[in-house]
Amino acid sequence: MTMVNVKIDGHQIQARAGSTVLEAAKEAGIDIPTLCHHPALANIGACRVCLVEVAKQRALQPACTFPVTEGIEIETESPRAVEARKFVLEMLFSERNHYCMYCEMSGDCELQNLAYRYGMDHWTYPTPYPKMPVDGTRAYFIMDHNRCILCRRCVRACSDLVANHTLGVKARGANTMISADMDVPFGESSCVNCGTCLQVCPTGALIDRKSAYMGREVQVDSVNSTCTFCSVGCGLKVVTRAGRVLRVEGDWDGHNQGVVCVAGRFEPLYDTREPVTEPMMRKNGQLEPVAWDEALDAIARKMKGAKVGAYAAGKALNETLSEFVKVFQGKAGADVHTLESTLADLDLPAGGSLQDLDAADCILVVGADPLANQRVLGYRIKRSLDKGARLLLVADGENELAAFSHRHFAVSDLHEAIRICEGGVAPVVVFGADLKREDARRLATLTGKAKFIALFPAANGFRAKELGLTNGTGADGADVLYLLLEDVVQTEALARRAKKAKFVVAHASRAGAVTEIADVVLPAPMWYEKEGSFVNLEGNKIDVTRVLPVPDGVIPGHEVFNRLAARL
Ligand code: SF4
Ligand code: SF4
Ligand code: SF4
Ligand code: FES
Repeated sequence: MTMVNVKIDGHQIQARAGSTVLEAAKEAGIDIPTLCHHPALANIGACRVCLVEVAKQRALQPACTFPVTEGIEIETESPRAVEARKFVLEMLFSERNHYCMYCEMSGDCELQNLAYRYGMDHWTYPTPYPKMPVDGTRAYFIMDHNRCILCRRCVRACSDLVANHTLGVKARGANTMISADMDVPFGESSCVNCGTCLQVCPTGALIDRKSAYMGREVQVDSVNSTCTFCSVGCGLKVVTRAGRVLRVEGDWDGHNQGVVCVAGRFEPLYDTREPVTEPMMRKNGQLEPVAWDEALDAIARKMKGAKVGAYAAGKALNETLSEFVKVFQGKAGADVHTLESTLADLDLPAGGSLQDLDAADCILVVGADPLANQRVLGYRIKRSLDKGARLLLVADGENELAAFSHRHFAVSDLHEAIRICEGGVAPVVVFGADLKREDARRLATLTGKAKFIALFPAANGFRAKELGLTNGTGADGADVLYLLLEDVVQTEALARRAKKAKFVVAHASRAGAVTEIADVVLPAPMWYEKEGSFVNLEGNKIDVTRVLPVPDGVIPGHEVFNRLAARL
């Protein structure tokens, strides 16, 4: 790496050649104010808040885009730079409604913080406040154009990080506004509700419906953890206050690079299913609360000498799954299964990564619909397409990637897609549970040439497969059926199937069709109460950190199985 000598505010430092003044200053611990800059996004030098004085340059230069060169001398807070910066801020405050005291971002707003930093205590210019619209057509967050400073972070996040290209800018001058698609209401646009734009907005222009006015940064806590709603396993920052989850953000340092999807960010916070909070047993036809000992004693009594069927949700953590196998396979001699496919019948390699997609020139997707089910991986595929990769989609039915594929093959034409893929320099095969065994054998010819990403339907499918769990039907006809459901949706079909057993145990964090018919119901921790690890689709063991304490009455899954094992 070539280094250059740079002088910033009188400090002589060494910086990477080609890095920006902003980056070099940050390395040296010097803070230059910014607004349109965001570390995860490409710089566009739009807001001019970061203007600095560069020796031998006639005009002030934006630190976020100006590169350092050998011998460059920079003043970040010279009177000229500060004056220009204040002018920019004054103009921004005069353009739209920035009455901070009424704004939900007050206290956390980057624009407001800069106003304090530069001692703005009045409006220098008239404030005509054109009445801008507020768009509340989206399910989870609102756009208030009155607070927008047109920094375009949202536009770049939607295009560069999510590759969704929903957002753009319409009109000119004072009428300039952020718009969606061909200027339709946001709720009717191609927006996929990932909330990445919401996360990068520096002001109160994008407002989260759930956490608005619920607490400023200094009043809330946050814990870095992992999303367990699919096998991508995105890094999260979960924000809480007073024992409640307020919102979920993407972790910029995670392999998901800050991006999460609607299923990780919003949907869990809108889950209105009743929580299971204590063990219950059916007595005289009714479920009644009982102590853990009574419930576990009853289960153990029923299991002894009986034909036992055991199913686990494939999202259960490593620690829980291991104990589940030990108790049901080891102690009760039962076949152990997952509720979802573990891709065990497909003899294909796995473990390709999101980074492999970034480097791919040809992506073959078969038996899977990642934009519907493993969305952040789907966004990564689209990002790769933006950079020039070709997408070969093999699917007979509807598939959300169809609109973006370069070639869409029927499954019967898989061989043709494989032939094209063989010609790629860095091909990646993405396969899922709809892939048939004979087609998997055909795909295996790409082993050694392509990277393979297995889209396990459940978060911990990778580990479940390693533990030998399969999505079988062997539990049908069981006397005792144990269902570790966690928070998966309990379908009527599953409840009907469960009813065939003489004794049903539903171990779940939410009530549903199966808990309604169960003989014993055991509470499982909520997603934000779980602690342990799982193996994501890349084959990486990732930690899940408990965000809120497990409430009284609820016991972590592995401990429940330990207690049950002791009784058998
Ligand atoms: S909505 Fe937010 S991120 Fe988008 S341009 Fe306006 S202020 Fe910037
Ligand atoms: S929520 Fe996601 S898809 Fe929708 S506009 Fe924002 S970044 Fe784009
Ligand atoms: S892609 Fe999967 S792991 Fe990532 S946020 Fe969405 S549901 Fe969670
Ligand atoms: S942060 Fe540099 S121009 Fe906006």
